[in-house]
Amino acid sequence: IFETSSAAAAALAGEVKALVETRQKEGRQVVLGLATGSTPVPFYRELIRLHREEGLSLRNVVTFNLDEYHGLAPTHPESYFRFMREQLFDHVDIPDENIHLPSGLVAVEEIFDHCHAYEEMIDAAGGIDFQILGIGRTGHIGFNEPGSSRDSLTRRITLDRITRQDAAGDFRGEENVPRFAITMGVGTILRARKIVLMAWGEGKAEVVARAVEGVVTEAVSASFLQEHGDARFVIDAPASRELT
Ligand code: F6R
Repeated sequence: IFETSSAAAAALAGEVKALVETRQKEGRQVVLGLATGSTPVPFYRELIRLHREEGLSLRNVVTFNLDEYHGLAPTHPESYFRFMREQLFDHVDIPDENIHLPSGLVAVEEIFDHCHAYEEMIDAAGGIDFQILGIGRTGHIGFNEPGSSRDSLTRRITLDRITRQDAAGDFRGEENVPRFAITMGVGTILRARKIVLMAWGEGKAEVVARAVEGVVTEAVSASFLQEHGDARFVIDAPASRELT
């Protein structure tokens, strides 16, 4: 628990910097699992600052994003592809060919193969070393809404009503929010070697407490992190208010 989100994000970015630089010395790559939404923004800002001001190179970084809205072109202002370009990729030196997101434009009949190929690309890269997560008010990680099983893999999911309401502001109305997303599964996420879930603000306090202190249940996907050997919640003081 950190006093502020910026202090938490800076500590986390420092950790990633250390990992990236250690691997650079060994001539190895680092595979990062990345999230979108408002939560990781201070973390990405700090990575950009470290790149610009402290000489951090991310040339040996390979990335896999958790999810993308199904139906949105990469150029759509609310696509996660565009978000990642604006918030991180355009400002650092990760090679384009190392960047992976599920496609928002995959045809329905090709979704199964696309998702299977995404899993295979993660495996071929050696698996995810460091997975960044946020948490939705439904307890979702990625877009694994309530009911997602412990072993779920990358697939198309129907977004929960609450998730669509939370995104309504960005899309200027709930009716404009896509109904589906392609998301890594809970099982995909749990295969990462190290996982850090970030959460800021009082609005996340209740779901953080359910995820950390409640029973492990499909009703709260983030609760499955309790069963991972190296998963941490990095939160600010307001997000910790409901913890006992
Ligand atoms: C997005 C993602 C989601 C978000 C969650 C919280 O890639 O995986 O799980 O992390 O919906 O969103 P924010 O950070 O906007 O509160």
